[in-house]
Amino acid sequence: MKYLIINGSPRKKNTWAIVNRIKNNLEGDFDEINLSECDIPICKGCFNCFMNGEEYCPHRDYIKPIVEKLMDCDAIIMTSPVYALNVSALLKNFLDHTAYFYHRPEFFTKKAIVVVSTAGAGHKKVANYLDETLRHWGVNKVYKLSVACGEKDSLETDKIDKTAKKFGLDVKSGKIHSPKWGDIIFFDVWKVMALKDDPIPADKKFWFDTGLVNHDFSPDVKLGFVKKIFSKVMFTFLKRII
Ligand SMILES: Cc1cc2nc3c(=O)[nH]c(=O)nc-3n(C[C@H](O)[C@H](O)[C@H](O)COP(=O)(O)O)c2cc1C
Repeated sequence: MKYLIINGSPRKKNTWAIVNRIKNNLEGDFDEINLSECDIPICKGCFNCFMNGEEYCPHRDYIKPIVEKLMDCDAIIMTSPVYALNVSALLKNFLDHTAYFYHRPEFFTKKAIVVVSTAGAGHKKVANYLDETLRHWGVNKVYKLSVACGEKDSLETDKIDKTAKKFGLDVKSGKIHSPKWGDIIFFDVWKVMALKDDPIPADKKFWFDTGLVNHDFSPDVKLGFVKKIFSKVMFTFLKRII
């Protein structure tokens, strides 16, 4: 199993201690991207990735190698300390550069764990935000570990071990989980957007080139009968209102 760690902490202390504990519970190879060493410039908000394609991002030389590793791994470990009740700027800047995945989801067969450390507040909210973001990227299942590290011995080792083991077994199993209802709705939203009379060009190209436009959800993910019908009804409804 290939795990890719995207480390959004500028230092290897509290958040990294949790990552190390997780790694001890997993079997496989680990690659790490320390965003603090990548020097990615701040997203310029040029909209090139959304409109024309990610290959037109002025910072593509920084982003492309990381995205290639994301495509290549089996599972993602994404980390951030809580900064001002949110993710670190390092991680947010990376997520801004990859926001096109909201429109063009890719990672339907991958699983992820998000690791958030805090002195005491904001960790649940930040873990929920990262979970939401990764599910918009298409990630099949996201595990959450949010830990308050204010007191050294409050490091919740049992919780970390239990969640990490569950994550590792799931990754190893290769099982593809049924998507959440919300994930199906967002899939249909972007499918409808790609089929509009005036679609975003890069989105249209992606949805047609991948063939996703012909499916109720990614063909890599089996939908039960009820969810299939739900997706079709949702698609018809959204087509009318968008
Ligand atoms: C700039 C900055 C902002 C922070 N904001 C918060 C915060 O809003 N709430 C909180 O509980 N802890 C906050 N903290 C504390 C960190 O989240 C906490 O110490 C974290 O475990 C640090 O992780 P690290 O060792 O990986 O850097 C902040 C720390 C820094 C440096």
